[in-house]
Amino acid sequence: MEVLIDSDWASGSLVDDVRRGLGSHPRRLPPKWLYDDEGSRLFDEITRLPEYYPTEAERRILLDHAADVVATCDATTVVELGSGTSDKTRTLLDAFAAAGRLRRFVPVDVSEQTLRDAAQMLGERYPGLAVEALVGDFTLHLSHLPANEPGAHRLVAFLGGTIGNLYVEERGAFLGALADSLDPGDWLLLGTDLVKPVDRLVAAYHDSAGVTDRFVRNSLAVLNRELGADFDLDAFSYVPFWDGHMERMDLRLRAEAEQHVTVPGAGIELDLAVGEEIHVEISTKFRPDGIRAELAAAGFETVELFTDPGDDFGLTLARLG
Ligand code: AVJ
Repeated sequence: MEVLIDSDWASGSLVDDVRRGLGSHPRRLPPKWLYDDEGSRLFDEITRLPEYYPTEAERRILLDHAADVVATCDATTVVELGSGTSDKTRTLLDAFAAAGRLRRFVPVDVSEQTLRDAAQMLGERYPGLAVEALVGDFTLHLSHLPANEPGAHRLVAFLGGTIGNLYVEERGAFLGALADSLDPGDWLLLGTDLVKPVDRLVAAYHDSAGVTDRFVRNSLAVLNRELGADFDLDAFSYVPFWDGHMERMDLRLRAEAEQHVTVPGAGIELDLAVGEEIHVEISTKFRPDGIRAELAAAGFETVELFTDPGDDFGLTLARLG
């Protein structure tokens, strides 16, 4: 297992992100810091909420079309970015294994423990599979992906709609870096949530049990713990809304009282006015033409777009030209 990130968040890029993001206007926190142990647990709870449709929709697509993906692409290595528990990936790996084409799996995740557990599980399930786990950040460490074996190709799976958490210019940079780290003929399997009526989108991010509220609010608890900050979590309200112009959900925390916050670990202090907002996460929703265009701009040619029966979610199979 190759480890490319520091497990001590406070010593690494969290400090830079917090200085840059909270110190400027609008105040922003990169969403990757939502996923500490508690955040990962809450996200897992989100995926089981009745209002949160993406996880089930994507699972449906994989169950229905994993064999089509395998039949269309010629990869023998599967790379998964942000693999987590490699749960949905199993459906994909099963299809590769059934076709006798699964040689190597490269899960990439920020959590070393999650990768250890996944690697162990996968080793038992697929005897003979080479698992080369990479502890890293998929926006920073793409150049460390293991190279192609001579004459073979890789399939990079980026599932869950996580690309929608990036701003459009970040998506361009990410897809460009991914293209740079791959060879012509390599494949991308990209999960994207699709534009749909606003009421369903808002419900998915403003669930009645309040789990998403706790998930987003937990970002401040991370700063309190890791950087010794003194955010009063109860002094904020959770503000999720649909930005119809950018076609994305926008998840923010709004200060309901004036407050002075110190973040010793990042060496900054903030004066928040009543109503001032911290932008915690966006979740962009896509249209088929937009996906195709963003992929094409980075050199990927869309070969197939698979959707679930309700057209809630899309899985695009594209090839680097
Ligand atoms: C990480 C992309 C799967 O944007 O839907 C869920 C994160 N945030 N609820 C999404 C999330 C709030 C999620 N993904």
